[in-house]
Formats: sequence, structure tokens, C-alpha cells
Amino acid sequence: MKIFIDSADLDEIRQAFAWGVCDGVTTNPSLLKKAVDKRKAAGEKLDIKEYISQLLQASQGSPVSLEVTELTAEGMIAQGKRLFEMFNHIARNVNIKIPINPALKDGDTTHFDGLKAVSVLSDEGIPVNCTLIFTPEQALLAAKAGAAYVSPFAGRVDDLLRKRAGIKFDKSDYYPADGFVHNNELLEDNGIISGIDLVRQCVEILEIYEFDTEVIAASIRNPRQAREAALVGAHIATLPFSVICDMLKHEKTHEGVELFTKDIVIEYVNMLK
Ligand code: G3P
Repeated sequence: MKIFIDSADLDEIRQAFAWGVCDGVTTNPSLLKKAVDKRKAAGEKLDIKEYISQLLQASQGSPVSLEVTELTAEGMIAQGKRLFEMFNHIARNVNIKIPINPALKDGDTTHFDGLKAVSVLSDEGIPVNCTLIFTPEQALLAAKAGAAYVSPFAGRVDDLLRKRAGIKFDKSDYYPADGFVHNNELLEDNGIISGIDLVRQCVEILEIYEFDTEVIAASIRNPRQAREAALVGAHIATLPFSVICDMLKHEKTHEGVELFTKDIVIEYVNMLK
């Protein structure tokens, strides 16, 4: 499984690449706002174009998703092309993030605009990461429209299931991949029993029909969910920096280092000087 870092924070991105574990970057408007706010709070005068250029360079030629902000097909296509023209020459690694369905509410006439934008941009050779995927059928349609990547939002599915059932939770709380029984009922959203189940179903469908589209397990909140994304065959997981850090932690690892350190023989250390 490839690991992308889900961040627009240059420090985090540089660090993750320096560790040699990062295969790409995903950003979205919220992540960009967080990174920009951090720089502004530190008193920096931000040149957003320069900042994104640095982000693309920091990613060492591996794919970086930049998201559109428009909500109509025409607007998304124009922005997608502009982003690609403006930034792809820097490291040849830009892909454009398009929401599968930009309608703000049911009944809007723009339901298919996401698909149209995916299709037009893909036909022009601009790779698309189709985002905000919450059903396997959305993933199937995005793949058919030519998306290079689809991004099912695992953590947000788990949020939805717990919220509907009136269960209190923290954002990083683990949610069982095999589902959660509450008041004798298995929580589900139209046949999806967890965020990881959504990822699994997306992978399965795209593999049955041999699409080249890669599934990016997104909205991953904790190491166990990252592990489960790998177990269900996600091609990629995009992970917040904190999750990458937490994946390294175990109390017995710390204890082992402490015990080995106590037992070091001085002759061995001297030999290595
Ligand atoms: O990659 C999508 C991601 O940034 C959303 O994550 O944790 O806000 O649901 P989250």
C-alpha cells in the first residue's frame, strides 16, 4: 500500500518525505486553510502561489492533489485546468481533486457536474482524484468517468454511523471495520457497515472490472484504521501526519529500547568509535 500524507503543511510534508515513507500528498481546502493559518499566526506574509510551488517541490515528484473550489462543471473544469497549467510544470506531479457530486443539497441540478469535470479533465490528460466518495457506486461512476484516483472518506462514514445512533465519540476513536452493534442492531448506511467496509467495497468493485483507478483510503483517523485499509487492499492510504507518527508507537518498543540501552557493554561502544 502506498502512503500519502494528508496535509498542506510544508513542515509535515518535508518531514514525512525525509523519513522515506511517503509516496504522495493530498490537500483539500480545509487542510490548506490550516497550513495557511499556521503561517499567518507565525507572522509570515504568505505568497500562496510560492507556498504551493514549495509544497510540490517538497513532494519529490510524487503525486500531489490540489482541490478545486468551484461547484459547477464549467467552474471546476476551468479551475482544474488553471491549477494544472500553473503548477504541473514545477514537478510534473499535480492531480486535480474534484468532488464526486458538488450539489449542496438534494434536488440541486448540479449532481452530475463532478462526473462531467472528471471526464473532461481526464480526457485532456489531467489526472483526477475524485473525492468525497461515500458509496461504492460513486466510486464506480468516477472510475468510469476516467478518474485516476477515488477517495472514499472512511472516518467520516464512521462519524455518520455513530452520529445517527446518538453515540458520543472523539474524532480519532477507533471504529470496528466489521461493524458496530448498538441496541441489538448493526449500524449501517445503505449496506456500508464502516468506513473501512466502504474502502473494501470500492477496491473490490474496481478490481472485478479491472479499472486502473486507484483507491485512496481517506479520512483515516488512527493507526488501526490505516492497518485495516492495508488489509482490505487499498492501493493508497492518505494519512494525517499525526497518524503516521502514531503508527510507530508501542509501549513494548519503548520498553525494549530502554532495556537494551541499559545492557550496552562499553567495549562494544568503543569498538564502533
Ligand atoms: O483526505 C480527506 C481528509 O482530509 C478528511 O479527513 O479527518 O477531516 O474526515 P477528516
